[in-house]
Amino acid sequence: MLVGQRTSDLVGQTDLLRVHSLSELSGSNIYLKCEFQNPGGSIKDRAAKQLIEDAMERGELKPGMTVVEGTAGNTGIGLALVAKSFGLNMLAVMPNDQSPEKERMIALHGGQLKTVDPVPFKNPNHFYHTARRIAEERDDCWWANQFENTSNARAHYLHTGPEIWQQLNGNIDTFVSVAGTGGTIGGNSRYLKEQNPNIDVWLADPDGSGIFEFLRTGEYVSNGSSMTEGIGIMRLVDNFRQARIDHAVNLPDQDLISISRYVREQDGLVLGSSSALNLAAAFAAALNGQPGRNIVTFACDLGERSASKLYNNDYLKQKGLAVEPEPIDQLAARYKQLGERLIAVNWSGDNS
Ligand SMILES: Cc1ncc(COP(=O)(O)O)c(C=O)c1O
Repeated sequence: MLVGQRTSDLVGQTDLLRVHSLSELSGSNIYLKCEFQNPGGSIKDRAAKQLIEDAMERGELKPGMTVVEGTAGNTGIGLALVAKSFGLNMLAVMPNDQSPEKERMIALHGGQLKTVDPVPFKNPNHFYHTARRIAEERDDCWWANQFENTSNARAHYLHTGPEIWQQLNGNIDTFVSVAGTGGTIGGNSRYLKEQNPNIDVWLADPDGSGIFEFLRTGEYVSNGSSMTEGIGIMRLVDNFRQARIDHAVNLPDQDLISISRYVREQDGLVLGSSSALNLAAAFAAALNGQPGRNIVTFACDLGERSASKLYNNDYLKQKGLAVEPEPIDQLAARYKQLGERLIAVNWSGDNS
């Protein structure tokens, strides 16, 4: 147990939960690293802490300055929290189609919020460019740049990966992760593969993201759209470049409804949408290979951050999704035959 001096000292050292229901069903141990235990409620607290600490150490960021970042929300919450611990201010630039739950948390942490229309990356008004521009125009601002600033992946290389390794005494067979900036999959997969190159790393990608197609063909092409937030990307960024990946799986939003309802009923877990995708992909990994393996993935945040989408039947119906979950044995049977949704890949950095 930790005794912290600052709230940001409480980031990390999260528990690992064996998901009883899906482990029993699949015959492999499926573990969730409980990143919702971080003080800002998500895995992005880890990146936020490392980004700020490294910048302060380099002398780029000094007390009284303002951290500026373009974010889907969770990084903004993490940065707002860590900023307060170090006498800094926070300005989050967010697309206005993200869940209001996250906007509210940034404000509750005392962060300033600027919302912009969601536009393609090439548009200069994209949240990423807007955040960079604001930081460039003001001397008292520092741009965190979670996509290209590799302090992000470093947080996972230095902390999350070693925690997982120690928690399972090195007995880890498969590692599964979604990717937004790629910091999580980048830092963890690099650390874990250094300990044991045979660990099988799976990337889970939602519809509307180009990563799966990129790994398959080298081109960022996406199909459909997803209710998930903070994950999926249409360009290659430095944090993702650090990843080592052996398999990629693309799963539809419909499956997130089925998995999230199942573990809510069976395990008392109300997962956020990216966590539901992680768990669905971990279940798929368990069903495609030998039983008896130890498979690790993340509960990136909890369902309260997805209440207005994943747990809102009106929203789901509007998106054309069935609110009734698919029976788990039917889902399991489908996952044993994923066909084109599952590919073997050989990604080890920028080897395109
Ligand atoms: C809920 C959630 N899950 C997953 C991710 C993706 O993590 P990473 O940016 O490390 O790839 C994010 C990123 O913002 C997120 O908010």
